[in-house]
Amino acid sequence: MELGTERRHAPATLRNREPILAVLQRVLPDGGLLLEIASGSGEHAAFMTPRLAAEIEWQPTEASRVALAGIDAHAADSACPRIRPAIVLDTRAADWPIHHADAVLCCNMIHIAPWTAAEGLFAGAGRILPASAPLILYGPFRRQGNHTAPSNAAFDTELRARDPSWGVRCLDTEVMALAEAAGFQLVEIVAMPANNLTVVFRR
Ligand SMILES: C[S@@+](CC[C@H](N)C(=O)[O-])C[C@H]1O[C@@H](n2cnc3c(N)ncnc32)[C@H](O)[C@@H]1O
Repeated sequence: MELGTERRHAPATLRNREPILAVLQRVLPDGGLLLEIASGSGEHAAFMTPRLAAEIEWQPTEASRVALAGIDAHAADSACPRIRPAIVLDTRAADWPIHHADAVLCCNMIHIAPWTAAEGLFAGAGRILPASAPLILYGPFRRQGNHTAPSNAAFDTELRARDPSWGVRCLDTEVMALAEAAGFQLVEIVAMPANNLTVVFRR
């Protein structure tokens, strides 16, 4: 991610935002609060919220406090009143600052964070989502323990070299175990460009 003045830019968001949006438009409820975990630059919120059903409000969050101003700046550029001010949320917290949401979205976090971040994500989403509400993950995953492309294997090596607690997670074993423990069922796996997946769970 590149630092601008306060706005940050994650170039991958330009490539993945349309395919992720297409899934959201299908699986989100008609209205309510979408809680975004690990909003990063905030570009997903700014692009997607105006393109979602008019009754959807988007709450961006970040573990990193310094990211908040940039997220809010992109939201202001979008002029969409349904994007709430960004707030700090670290998935590992036992008590999240939001106690109810109608959907949770988390893009590109669980491989670039310690496993405890993924554990916290599922535990927290399990606490705040009502029955049948979606938890949507986007990113690279291993399947049945194996990488799905050489580029993902190389990315995994690079991640683990940067931090041994990071790495491309296995959807079928590691992630599914967390999901089941938190009361989620896997309902859909959607292939995305560049060997990524969007994965939809429901409580
Ligand atoms: C690669 S960025 C992804 C940002 C954005 N979702 C995207 O797709 O461009 C990963 C983000 O995860 C955040 N993060 C790492 N650990 C976290 C945690 N435990 N809780 C919440 N966010 C976390 C980082 O601060 C970082 O902004």
